[in-house]
Amino acid sequence: MNGEQQTLGLVGLVGLDEGMDEPAMDPELGPDVALLRGFALAEAAAILRAVDAVITASPLRKLLTPGGRRMSVAMTNCGRLGWTSDRRGYRYVQRDPAGERPWPAMPVVLRDLAVRAALRAGFSGFTPDACLINRYDPGARMSLHQDRDERDLGAPVVSLSLGLPATFLLGGAERSDATVRLPLRHGDVLVWGGRSRLRFHGVLPLKAGHHPIVGDHRLNLTFRSAG
Ligand code: SIN
Ligand code: FE2
Repeated sequence: MNGEQQTLGLVGLVGLDEGMDEPAMDPELGPDVALLRGFALAEAAAILRAVDAVITASPLRKLLTPGGRRMSVAMTNCGRLGWTSDRRGYRYVQRDPAGERPWPAMPVVLRDLAVRAALRAGFSGFTPDACLINRYDPGARMSLHQDRDERDLGAPVVSLSLGLPATFLLGGAERSDATVRLPLRHGDVLVWGGRSRLRFHGVLPLKAGHHPIVGDHRLNLTFRSAG
């Protein structure tokens, strides 16, 4: 094959890929951020079964912040490491402090989805060892923060939304930077890493509603390479 044919072949492949899917990166979101609309829809039922099993083994709980306030979002984890918070600070731990047992293993269906989403967003070789599961009931919110407790800040955060829609705030490197509002719906996956890894982000208070599959709340799963 000569050089010209090779070039044409490559262009054809890129064109085909773009035709099948919306581009993963949206320049309006900034560098190294991808919003994959509906990425998890096909597996939502299996994902929800896996999440239910995790929650049964390590129940959701509302943690205390180091400042002594009770979070409005209920949390649990699966994977080798789990994120927790109490008066002593934010950190990853190997055992669920509620029962002093290891966190439930990360179900393969969850891990696979996270790895594929990271790849689709341009991050190859993602090996998540922590999955934080957040449940938002109406009114629950998450104030602007950075995800910076992970040891490997070279790996992205992969965030899956299920159930009721929410408004995600994506800010900048400083807390005071302007934020963009992203509506996140059932099945959407948001990936941020690289130059955007330490951007501030948060979630506006959840509006009451009913989702036909998940019910009256929103679930959010964030996959991280933490340890
Ligand atoms: C988080 O920042 O850990 C949660 C984000 C979300 O609920 O969408
Ligand atoms: Fe976060």
